Amino acid sequence: MAHTTPSPLIIAHRGAPGYLPEHTLTGYRLGATLGADYIEPDLVFTKDGRLVARHDHYLSTTTDIADHPEFATRKTEKPGHDGADWFTEDFTLAEIKTLRARQAMEFRSHAADSMFEIPTFDEVIALAQSEGKKLGRTIGIYPETKSPDYFASLGYDYATVVLGALERAGWNEKDAPVFIQSFEIPILKDLRTKTQLPLIYLLESKSDLTMPDIAAFADGIGPYKKLLVNTDGQSNGLIEDAHAAGLKVHPWTFRADQLPDAFQTAHAEFEFFFKLGVDGVFTDFPDTAYAARLAGAAIQL
Ligand code: G3P
Ligand code: CA
Repeated sequence: MAHTTPSPLIIAHRGAPGYLPEHTLTGYRLGATLGADYIEPDLVFTKDGRLVARHDHYLSTTTDIADHPEFATRKTEKPGHDGADWFTEDFTLAEIKTLRARQAMEFRSHAADSMFEIPTFDEVIALAQSEGKKLGRTIGIYPETKSPDYFASLGYDYATVVLGALERAGWNEKDAPVFIQSFEIPILKDLRTKTQLPLIYLLESKSDLTMPDIAAFADGIGPYKKLLVNTDGQSNGLIEDAHAAGLKVHPWTFRADQLPDAFQTAHAEFEFFFKLGVDGVFTDFPDTAYAARLAGAAIQL
């Protein structure tokens, strides 16, 4: 299938967690069906070295593990984590597969809690490929290496495992519909030497690095959306600087149920950021981004 590049890209952030529990195959499928171009798995390791889709390596907030008496004694404390919890790296994939996902945010619908398994990275890639065929358009993947420094300290090799999965699926080529993202620079530098896939450096706060500095190890930035505007709501020039250095700009996270004060509707927020010049958006509600992109395109006709 020809690989097209819609713009701005719509990235189904953790699937479609505005509607279904995050990081589930059904959630990713819904994200694609609602108009996303890419689905976003956050990745963490199991005890037996498999990558599974979870935003965090602790399991209490997004799974039903607290309802599994057989795992009660596996609850533990770890340095750097507040309070006791269950952690993916202490469970085999077979054990993780006995859990079911739950909606992470209390105020969202819990109707689909405890219905869906935790998917592996291989299953997410396979889903993107099969959904792309079904929908007749490319559905890419946008994996995030979560806490690579921490997992490296436990002996896990993110780059090898992520790229191995992509290689097996035939998606470790320059023009494959894949972006790999991280908040941590060492893993991006490691990946840079091992793959031609585009790499995205995530920014939670203003960086001391210049855009040309970042361009030495990444192909784009994934900033918290508020980093792109001044307090008066005008562009602060970050997008232009990134573009001048050849970097894409994919901000996060757009949530129709948590709008910034400046916007009355999700549509208005997307309209604003699309006009600002972003190249893609991470959203919990892919349908809202799709409608805004469609409306923008119609206006230009
Ligand atoms: O990866 C982009 C965005 O998802 C970063 O935020 O915390 O939702 O992974 P987070
Ligand atoms: Ca993420």
